[in-house]
Amino acid sequence: MTEVFKGRLAILGMGYIGLPTAVAIATRGIDVIGVDINPATVAAISRGEVPFVEPDLAVAVSGAVAMGRLTATTQTPEADAFIIAVPTPFNEDRTANLSYVKAAAEQIAPRLKPGNIVVLESTSPPGTTEKVGKWIGALRPDLRMPRNGDAIADVFVAHCPERVLPGRIMIEMVTNDRVVGGLTPRCAEKAASIYRLFAQGEILLTDAESAEMAKLSENAYRDVNIAFANELSMICESLHIDIWEVIRLANRHPRVGILSPGPGVGGHCIPVDPWFIVSAAPELARLIRTARDVNDRRPHDVAEQVVAKAERFRSPTIACLGLTFKANVDDARESPAIEVVSLIAKALPEVEILVADPYVPTMPELLKGYGNLRLENAHEAVERADIVVLLVEHEPFRALRHTRLGGKVIYDTRGAWR
Ligand SMILES: NC(=O)c1ccc[n+]([C@@H]2O[C@H](COP(=O)([O-])OP(=O)(O)OC[C@H]3O[C@@H](n4cnc5c(N)ncnc54)[C@H](O)[C@@H]3O)[C@@H](O)[C@H]2O)c1
Repeated sequence: MTEVFKGRLAILGMGYIGLPTAVAIATRGIDVIGVDINPATVAAISRGEVPFVEPDLAVAVSGAVAMGRLTATTQTPEADAFIIAVPTPFNEDRTANLSYVKAAAEQIAPRLKPGNIVVLESTSPPGTTEKVGKWIGALRPDLRMPRNGDAIADVFVAHCPERVLPGRIMIEMVTNDRVVGGLTPRCAEKAASIYRLFAQGEILLTDAESAEMAKLSENAYRDVNIAFANELSMICESLHIDIWEVIRLANRHPRVGILSPGPGVGGHCIPVDPWFIVSAAPELARLIRTARDVNDRRPHDVAEQVVAKAERFRSPTIACLGLTFKANVDDARESPAIEVVSLIAKALPEVEILVADPYVPTMPELLKGYGNLRLENAHEAVERADIVVLLVEHEPFRALRHTRLGGKVIYDTRGAWR
């Protein structure tokens, strides 16, 4: 019979991934303890509040806290299962920074009892789940850690990568298929018992390294395909061919699906995760590395296009619409739109640049140093601009097409005004 988890569960890392996971499990009648090193995050959750914006999450958190199913603390407690959902950024040399994962494993180690489950959800390079087992084993020589080919273990360690889309986390967390990779088949089975509580998608069991690599491959696949679209866009711009028309026609081929180009690739996953593959196999990951370079270069290409358009005017005003890393969210971290704006502001210090984003009420830190930038509402910015640059296709911006853009030089990096 397939096992479904019972008991108390602790999640380390109450961010975009850990908190929605905590809520999904708590609302299935499990006592969940959310652990975070940030006391402000713990205090907010304890009040039933969410420290960031994600649709439908706030009401779910306040409900789970009010029911007493979800609590938050800075101290790692004893529990029957532990999920690690801490950051995995990259170092300056673009190798993975596993210090947060190691710290989480070391917080869990003293609390472990025989029969406990430890799941790493953080996106990680191949071999990290095994390291988690070793870090714990070094602190707990009294416990038999799982080893391949060895059926007996006191603790079950597995990797279950998260693949939700910000803005749709509460839906996708439940509906997506889940990959669960164990250090042994029994570890995978035990970890799957947690996801059976709430996952409606299929739960696919495998080994830990395949699960780690599958997650990285998903984001590298997206990155390579976006790089293809971005490169095509640059080629078409230089040949004075309309990229959107080219993509519309090419995508009528039954086996072609070219993605939309844009001002670059942002967020915390796609620009980061492919580097974990590159650093695991630097000699072999040539295409994946090139895709990263193409996408990292893209904000510079877009900014250069805008500067070239501005040079046709004596004293132009430029409106840049959108600052977040994708449409219809408030998250402006790692946003290529911000990079584009800063590059234009730097290249054209005498030019007035009006910046508008309905989701960003104050000037982002990275843009504060430029005297020629001003935050404005979109209508005002477009009204006053000679050149309008669309960087993020927020819904309210789409409507501008019909009324406001006549007589302006338009640079629509997202194809939203076609
Ligand atoms: N955000 C996404 O859309 C997304 C999607 C898929 C996978 N992931 C992966 O999930 C992981 C978590 O990402 P996130 O977006 O939730 O990060 P986040 O920055 O939103 O949250 C991480 C939280 O962990 C806390 N933390 C750090 N060290 C800790 C420790 N030792 N103990 C307890 N808490 C600790 C931080 O204070 C923070 O609140 C990363 O590996 C990321 O790559 C994220």
